[in-house]
Amino acid sequence: MKHEALPQIQLGRLRLRNGLWLAPMAGITNGPFRLLCARGGAGLVVTEMVSADSLRYGNRKSMRMLDITPGERPVAIQIFGADPQAMALAAKLAEEAGADVIDINAGCPVKKVLKAGAGSALMKRPDLLADITAAVVNAVKVPVTVKTRVGLKAGAVLGPELARLAEGEGATAVVIHGRYAEAFHTGPVDLDAVAATAAAVKIPVIGNGGVKDAAGARGMLEAGCAGISIGRAAAGNPFIFSDIAGVLSGSAAEERRPQDALKLFLEFLELNCGVYGPENGVVRARKLIGYWLKGLKGAAALRGAFMEKKTLNEARTLLVEYLHSAR
Ligand SMILES: Cc1cc2nc3c(=O)[nH]c(=O)nc-3n(C[C@H](O)[C@H](O)[C@H](O)COP(=O)(O)O)c2cc1C
Repeated sequence: MKHEALPQIQLGRLRLRNGLWLAPMAGITNGPFRLLCARGGAGLVVTEMVSADSLRYGNRKSMRMLDITPGERPVAIQIFGADPQAMALAAKLAEEAGADVIDINAGCPVKKVLKAGAGSALMKRPDLLADITAAVVNAVKVPVTVKTRVGLKAGAVLGPELARLAEGEGATAVVIHGRYAEAFHTGPVDLDAVAATAAAVKIPVIGNGGVKDAAGARGMLEAGCAGISIGRAAAGNPFIFSDIAGVLSGSAAEERRPQDALKLFLEFLELNCGVYGPENGVVRARKLIGYWLKGLKGAAALRGAFMEKKTLNEARTLLVEYLHSAR
């Protein structure tokens, strides 16, 4: 499919098929989900954030988060931390694991990340963010991106300054979440601040926050963004990327029925069990099934029944029977 309305994005030597990126989401953007998003048309998929400190100490769970699934490329591995050397080492490990891009988390406001002095805490310490960006850029050959926010508190816009800093230290793109850190992931997006950020630098700026459809994506492009990073709207709908790209290039929107999402969830479940095992894969999917059931008749009862299932076989039978009865 050709995406004429979406500008091509070049990150160093890497040319992306389009500027629609999957946003990093802890607990959601694991390998199987990223694979579905890549098949669903994402130009770049991004892992869950991985702790640089945990990687430094060889934590097995964190090391496994660097695993890349064949077919999901191009993929960015996102790392978080507050120590330039640890971040440089994490970036190297991620590059060795096969990352096409390294993404620095400089926007996450959750407690665990702030406690480490990382994520949005780096927005208060631009010198440290500059040192981290420089250390990571020097440590790897692949392109480095920085994901940050328009500011910490409503109205106090930091995006342009942070984007210039990232550009100055050699980042190849900036992802800007248009919400202030104090708002976490809800509420309005400050499009003017996104536009000011995009205007401040020559490198591509990727707009993030609240994009659910082609109209939202167009808003980000009109604000001067080179691409769009999509988070929650992709959870349960990995085809959102090709849908938006299609509409932006003039095709009619594809109709998707809630049952189609459930069939995809079944595929996700099989892939998840392939990676984590037939029981663990089901347990890990419990938190996510709600995203895939939106709009389905009897969704609450189906979700309740799914929570009781312990193995892939049991879960598969439940979902297949539901799909038969819904015909
Ligand atoms: C469950 C969840 C987990 C997230 N985990 C991360 C993360 O690991 N790294 C990060 O930079 N942002 C993380 N985010 C923020 C998203 O990348 C994105 O910036 C945010 O959801 C806004 O985009 P959206 O409105 O399209 O969802 C997370 C968001 C959610 C909802």
